[in-house]
Amino acid sequence: MGGNGSVLVIGGTGGIGREVARHYHERGDDVIITGRDLERANEVASGIGTGVGTLAFDLSEPETIGEALSGVGAVSRLVLSSVSRDHNPIRNYTIADAVYGATMKLVGYTTTVHILIDRLGDDSSVVLFGGRAKDRPYPGSTTVTTVNGGVNSLIRTLAVELAPVRFNAIHPGIVGDSPFWENKPLDAVLQRTPTGRLVTMAEVVDATVFLLENRGVNGVNLAVDGGWMLL
Ligand SMILES: NC(=O)c1ccc[n+]([C@@H]2O[C@H](COP(=O)([O-])OP(=O)(O)OC[C@H]3O[C@@H](n4cnc5c(N)ncnc54)[C@H](OP(=O)(O)O)[C@@H]3O)[C@@H](O)[C@H]2O)c1
Repeated sequence: MGGNGSVLVIGGTGGIGREVARHYHERGDDVIITGRDLERANEVASGIGTGVGTLAFDLSEPETIGEALSGVGAVSRLVLSSVSRDHNPIRNYTIADAVYGATMKLVGYTTTVHILIDRLGDDSSVVLFGGRAKDRPYPGSTTVTTVNGGVNSLIRTLAVELAPVRFNAIHPGIVGDSPFWENKPLDAVLQRTPTGRLVTMAEVVDATVFLLENRGVNGVNLAVDGGWMLL
């Protein structure tokens, strides 16, 4: 079991967040998922099973997060997995897109933790989602690369300031069976992945659960990418 309190998955309406929520629901934990739209969150929740709680708010509007989370009680496991995918080449830099992307993960994730401080117990743990774009940029990835690089550092301050709560980050490579990549050409990624296959949502969930549950793991940035950086 996750411990005392609920398992709160911010971005639980998305591909990987939904699978993390499903894992904890199947283990009998109280699970709450969030997205931006309550109707969609309710649909996803009923697809997971009965009794999954839902909330809707936009991480890019951090001032609204406190009110949105006001009904949430103790939280034993917090997963921050929301993302906005900002394709923003420097030569055609769109400030509004960059501000949105940077705000939602870096300020939005941090504000969520800030709001929940008194609802996290000593045994609580938190996983933030970054991504391997922090190390492997591509044209247009500046916001994604720098934001995920920020997640890499953010867990360190959180783990120090809010000890003994544990904070870890997961940095997936291309998750081949996640909805975002459906029907997109991924041969180039495969060729650079030593395992010859793309990581799966199940593998990312497994690694997330490891970070959340293993009480010795704190302040760790864990890559789950089949060795993508080795080639
Ligand atoms: N999939 C991959 O291959 C991959 C690779 C590397 C890293 N990652 C990381 O893994 C995490 C999960 O990825 P995923 O592919 O599962 O994502 P996804 O399917 O695109 O889901 C994104 C989630 O974020 C929520 N969201 C989007 N904008 C938001 C906002 N402004 N405020 C609050 N919530 C918002 C979405 O909710 P609604 O749409 O319902 O509002 C949804 O729940 C992300 O942090 C991503 O960066 C994924």
